[in-house]
Amino acid sequence: MSTKQNDIKNIGVLTSGGDAPGMNAAIRAVVRTCVYYELTPYGIYQGYEGLIDNEIQKMDAGSVKHIIHQGGTILKSARSQAFKTEEGMEKAWRNVQDNDLDAMVVIGGDGTFTGAMKFGQKYDFPIVGIPGTIDNDIYGTDFTVGFDTAVNTVVEAVDKIRDTATSHNRLFFIEVMGRDAGFIAVYSGIAAGSEEVLIPEKDRGIEKLFESLQRTSQRQKTSRLVIVAEGDKNGSVYDLEDKVKERFGDRYETKVTILGHVQRGGRPSCTDRVLASQLGVKSVEALLDGRRNVMIGVRDRKVRYTDFEKATKQNPKMDEELLRIADIISI
Ligand code: F6P
Repeated sequence: MSTKQNDIKNIGVLTSGGDAPGMNAAIRAVVRTCVYYELTPYGIYQGYEGLIDNEIQKMDAGSVKHIIHQGGTILKSARSQAFKTEEGMEKAWRNVQDNDLDAMVVIGGDGTFTGAMKFGQKYDFPIVGIPGTIDNDIYGTDFTVGFDTAVNTVVEAVDKIRDTATSHNRLFFIEVMGRDAGFIAVYSGIAAGSEEVLIPEKDRGIEKLFESLQRTSQRQKTSRLVIVAEGDKNGSVYDLEDKVKERFGDRYETKVTILGHVQRGGRPSCTDRVLASQLGVKSVEALLDGRRNVMIGVRDRKVRYTDFEKATKQNPKMDEELLRIADIISI
């Protein structure tokens, strides 16, 4: 087995924030890596809520069998308000001590890492983070666990919408998730061949949408799909539909689809399973190597460590080249 030496013996693992496909694969990798290095893994249920309420259970290699292919998270998840309070943190710290936890791996997004950073600093407790969110909005990694599956779910749905849009010569506004980020919108827009993509990172104005619709009319396209990130600054999909009606009257028969939480579920893709497994193993090894307060990501195919401080304060840059490509291929 391992030659790694460290005082760390018991490692807790939790998932927090919005669930993402591949979180189970990450939990599995963390637990199995603990077993490999003869450490004891502990599952913390309901995210930080479970840390406060002492929902903590010892796990073993068998506790994570047959979960690599399942969506959601067997540890469940929550967005804990209590963990943001002094009292909540104190309770959580008492449970960490009562359960003899020496370190923790947290799987989630921005909010998860902010909580981990504060808790880790306050009690001098080693924590390592794994980026798990469908939004892909975390600095320090090219991709987050869950993004690939979510974007494939979107593409499958949009392909289906294209069929009906073409049959009826309709214009669809399709809202996708992403909170303040447009990654799901841009990737799915390119992959599903949408006529336009609207994202919060680069507001190109409503006129750009109007122009592109005009162009599709000149080319006598029979269907038009506009993918709108939920954080887009031009308003909701319904507002956009109204604006198009105001401008063009009844030239287009419009429909609105909000894909919603269907984007969060489903069997994780191979890419997400591999990424989650890689980060899961590395998170435990990072703790054994004495790392703390860092998020583990993959950039340019290499494992990288980013301080929680940086991971939470900086936003990943939208690749403008992808937007340019989307424009060119949608003429
Ligand atoms: O962060 C993941 C995400 O699905 C976002 O895309 C979305 O804005 C948000 O979570 C929705 O959160 P909830 O499931 O709590 O409504």
